[in-house]
Amino acid sequence: MARGVLIGGLVCLALVTVGVVVFVSVWFTRDTEEPPTPDERFYDEVKDWERFDCHPESGETQELCEARGCFWKAVDEDDLAPRCFYPLTFGYELIRGTEGTELGWSAKLSRIEGLQSRYGMDIDKLHIDVEHQTETRMHFKIIDASKPRFEIPLFIDKPSVKPVAPAYEVAYKESPFSLQISRKGGPMLFDTSFGGFTYEDQFLQISTKLPSTNIYGFGEHNHRQFRHNLNWKTWAMFARDVAPVDEWNLYGHQPFYMCVEEDGKAHGVLFLNNNAMDVVLQPLPGLTYRAIGGVLDFYIFVGDSPEHVVQLYTEAIGRQDIPPYWGLGFQLSRWNYGSLDRVKQVVQELKDADIPHDVQYGDIDYMDEKKDFTWDKVKFAGLPEYVDQLHADGMKYIIILDGFIKHAPGENYHAYDRGVEMDIFIKDPGGVNDLIGNVWPGDSVYPDYTLNKTTDYWTQMCEEFYQEIKYDALWIDMNEPSNFYQGSIDGCNNNRWNYPPYYPRILGNVIYDKTICMDAVQHIGSHYNTHSLFGHTMSISSYEALKRMWPTKRGVVLTRSSFVGTSRYAAHWLGDNQSFWSNMGWSIIGMLEFSLFGFPYTGSDICGFWFNTTESMCQRWMQLGAFYPYSRNHNGDGSPDQRMIPQHPTAFSDEMSRVSREVLLIRYRLLPFLYTLMYEATVKGSTVVRPLMHEFNTDAVTYDIDRQFLWGPSLLITPVLEEGATSVEGYFPDARWYDYYTGEELESVYRGTTKVLSAPMDYINLHVRGGFIIPTQMPARTTVLSRQLPMGVLVALGDGPNYPAMGNLFWDDGESRDTEKTGAYLLIEMSCMNSQLTLTPVNDGYRDADSLFFEHIRVFGQMSTPTRVLVNAKEIFAPDYQYDANINELFVRNQNLPITQSHTIKWL
Ligand code: NOJ
Repeated sequence: MARGVLIGGLVCLALVTVGVVVFVSVWFTRDTEEPPTPDERFYDEVKDWERFDCHPESGETQELCEARGCFWKAVDEDDLAPRCFYPLTFGYELIRGTEGTELGWSAKLSRIEGLQSRYGMDIDKLHIDVEHQTETRMHFKIIDASKPRFEIPLFIDKPSVKPVAPAYEVAYKESPFSLQISRKGGPMLFDTSFGGFTYEDQFLQISTKLPSTNIYGFGEHNHRQFRHNLNWKTWAMFARDVAPVDEWNLYGHQPFYMCVEEDGKAHGVLFLNNNAMDVVLQPLPGLTYRAIGGVLDFYIFVGDSPEHVVQLYTEAIGRQDIPPYWGLGFQLSRWNYGSLDRVKQVVQELKDADIPHDVQYGDIDYMDEKKDFTWDKVKFAGLPEYVDQLHADGMKYIIILDGFIKHAPGENYHAYDRGVEMDIFIKDPGGVNDLIGNVWPGDSVYPDYTLNKTTDYWTQMCEEFYQEIKYDALWIDMNEPSNFYQGSIDGCNNNRWNYPPYYPRILGNVIYDKTICMDAVQHIGSHYNTHSLFGHTMSISSYEALKRMWPTKRGVVLTRSSFVGTSRYAAHWLGDNQSFWSNMGWSIIGMLEFSLFGFPYTGSDICGFWFNTTESMCQRWMQLGAFYPYSRNHNGDGSPDQRMIPQHPTAFSDEMSRVSREVLLIRYRLLPFLYTLMYEATVKGSTVVRPLMHEFNTDAVTYDIDRQFLWGPSLLITPVLEEGATSVEGYFPDARWYDYYTGEELESVYRGTTKVLSAPMDYINLHVRGGFIIPTQMPARTTVLSRQLPMGVLVALGDGPNYPAMGNLFWDDGESRDTEKTGAYLLIEMSCMNSQLTLTPVNDGYRDADSLFFEHIRVFGQMSTPTRVLVNAKEIFAPDYQYDANINELFVRNQNLPITQSHTIKWL
C-alpha cells in the first residue's frame, strides 16, 4: 500500500502540467484499488500443471481445502491436476540472515505466522545447513532447530574446505524461504519456491521445479518405462515384501533421481530419508516429496553427463566390491527342488548338455523346517559332501538365509538360543520382550541388525554353519522385513506410529501390513524410523560376516531389500517376477534403474519366478538373461497340488538346450570384458548395464530407450521381448556399429535411425560400437576352466581419419579381496590407431597371468586389404592372418602373445 501511494504521488508530479482531469483520474485509480497480492495473482493466473497438491488424500472438498489454508479451483474433468493447491506464501521465512560456515552457510527458519496447521505437529523453528561439498556435490539439510530427530546413520564423507570452482550456484529467497540451485551458466536445477513447504513431526513436504521432463530413478518399483511419466504420477517408497507386478512400492527404498537436462548434461538428487514417503511427479515439470519422518537431507550431484552423475553418486554413497569371477558365470536355482537327488539330477543334466553353469543354489527347502543355519538331513542327506563335489568340479553353492529366526524356546534350536543369550532380537513396543512375527518357519523373531553385536551373532552363526556346509556366498531374503502376521502375534498398538496421520500411497491398508509394528524397538530407533534400513543393515552384517570368515577371499551377498549405499555390501536381484512376456522388458528397466542407484551386479529371475513359463518364452529369456550382469535362472515353487513346471535350460527340448548353451557360451566368451566393466564400476563408479543415453547424451531419441541396453560403452544388446516375434526394432545412435557375430558393418544410412533386425528364435542381436576394443576368452562349462583358455581381442574401428579404438582388460585371480587396492592385478590398455594395435600392461601385479596368451585378434571395419601384417615387428603370413573383403574384417590368429607383455600388431 505504501508503495501504491508513492507511485501515485510520482505520477501526479509528472502530470501536473498536463491537466487536472488526468491528474485526478490517475490518482484515483491507484489509490482506491489495492494491487493484487502475489498469491491473488497466482490464484488468477495459475496453470493447471503449476498447482502443487494440498489435498492428496481422497475426499477433498473446498471446505477441507481452505481449512488447510490452500486455494480451491476447479479443473476439467479429465485433468489430473489438483483442485486444492498451495498458495505461494506457505512455509517458513528466514530470520536473522545467514551465517557463514566452513563449507557454506547456515540459517534459522521460522514458520510463517498465521498459517493453518495440517496435523498440529508443526516444528516452528528450523535450522538449515547449506554445504558446497565438492565441485560437483552440493548438500543441504533442514533439521529441527531445538531438538534432534531421527537421522540415518549413513555417512557421506565431506572435505573440510570449500571447492574453489563449484559447477553450481546456490541462492535463496527469504520469505517464504526457498532455495535455488542452478548449474553455473546453465539452468536452474532445483528450486523449492513452489507450494507447501511443511515440516511437521510426521509430515515433511518440499517441492521443486525441474529443468526438463527427462527424469529417471526412484525405487523400488516396477516402472513400465525408464523415463518417468510426469502426468501426475505418485510413487511411494517403503520397503515391502510383494511381487513386482503392479506399480506399488517394492523391496527396496531408493529415493534418488537423475534429470537429463535439455542439452544432455545431467544432475542427480538424493533425498536421504528412509521413512515412508511419496514422490509426486507433475507436468510443470516438477515434483513433491512427502515423507512421514526423518529430516530433509538432500544431495545434488551436478554432472557433465548421465554416466558422470552415477560416478558422482557412487563416489558419495560407496561402490561395490568387484564380484568374484565365478559370480559372472551362469547360476541356477529353484524354490523346492524337493530333494538333493533332484538337485544332483538337474546339475548333471546341464553338465551332460555342456551348458555353462558355475553356481547352484539352495533355497529354503535345503533347510530343516525352513530354519536358518540348519539343513534337512533327510531330503538333503549328503549335502555337505555334494557341495564339496561341486567345488571339485569347479562349481559353487550359494545358500539362502532369511532375515528372521524361528521363535523356538525350549526346542534346542541353537540360532534362537544364542540370539536370546546375546539379546539381539528386535523388541516389541514395551522394549523388553522380543517381537514375534510369523514367516516361513512359523513364529519368528527378528535380529536387530542395527546393533553391532548382531553382526557378531550373525558371524558366529555363519561360521558355525560353514563348518557343516562349505557354501560360497549368501543370498539374503525376506528382509523388508516380511511378516505373515499384521505387525506381530499381538497385532499393533493404536498410536500415531502405527497409524500415521498422513498415509503415503504405499501398498496395504495399514503401514505395518506384511511387516512388523512401527513402534517395535530397535537399537537406533523405532521401527517407524528404521524400517527401510532392515535389508541394508542385514546386508552389512552379512558382508561383515563373510569378511571375517574369509579375510582374503571375496564374498558375495545377494539381497532382496536395499537402501541407498547397500551396493557396497550386497548385490540385488529384482525379486519375484512372473513368467510373462511383459516381465522381460520390465527387467531391463529394473536393471537400468539399479545401475543408476549404484548396483552394477543385477539381474532378474530368468524365465520368471511365478507361474509357468513356456519353452519359447524361456528360450528368449535365456538369451536376454545371458546379458544380465547377474545371470540366474530361478523358479518359484507353486502350490502343493500344482507345482510350477521346471524351467532350467535342459527341462525343454534339445533345441532349447542348444540355444541356451550357445548364448551362454557367448556370455562366457565375453566375461573378460564384463569383468573389466565390473572393475571399472568399482574404481570409477561407471555403469555396467548402461542405458544408451549414457553414451549418446545429446541424442534425445536415446532418452526413451529401455528395450535395448549396452554393456559398458560398446556392446549393444537388442533382445526379442515379444512372443512369436522373429524380428526386432533396434535404435542405432550415430556411430559405426558392427554385427558381433559376422563383423559386418551396419550400413551408414542407419546411423541415428531405428532398424528392423532379423531375430530368428535361436538368435539375439548383438552389435559392437566402433571405436572400442573388447577382450574375449575361449568359453568353457565353468569359469574355472574358461579362465585358463586362450584369449582374444575384438577391435571395432571407429570413424576416420585415424580409425581409433580403445579398451581395457582387467585380470586378477578372480577371488582375492580388494585386488584393485592391493595392486595384485593386471591391467592392459588396448589402443588402436592408424592400423596399429598396441596392448600395453599398465599394471603388472598378477604373475599367474603369465600362462595366458592372446591367440587371435579380430579387426572390424578395416576398409582396405592389408598387404602386410606385422606382429611385434615380425611379419606373419596367411593362414595366420586373413582378410575378408566382403565384411572388411582382418583376422589374425595362431598367435601366442603372453598377456603380461606389450605387443604391437600392425597392418599396412
Ligand atoms: C522369496 C524370494 O524372493 C524367492 O526368490 C525365494 O525363492 C522365496 N522367497 C523362497 O525362499
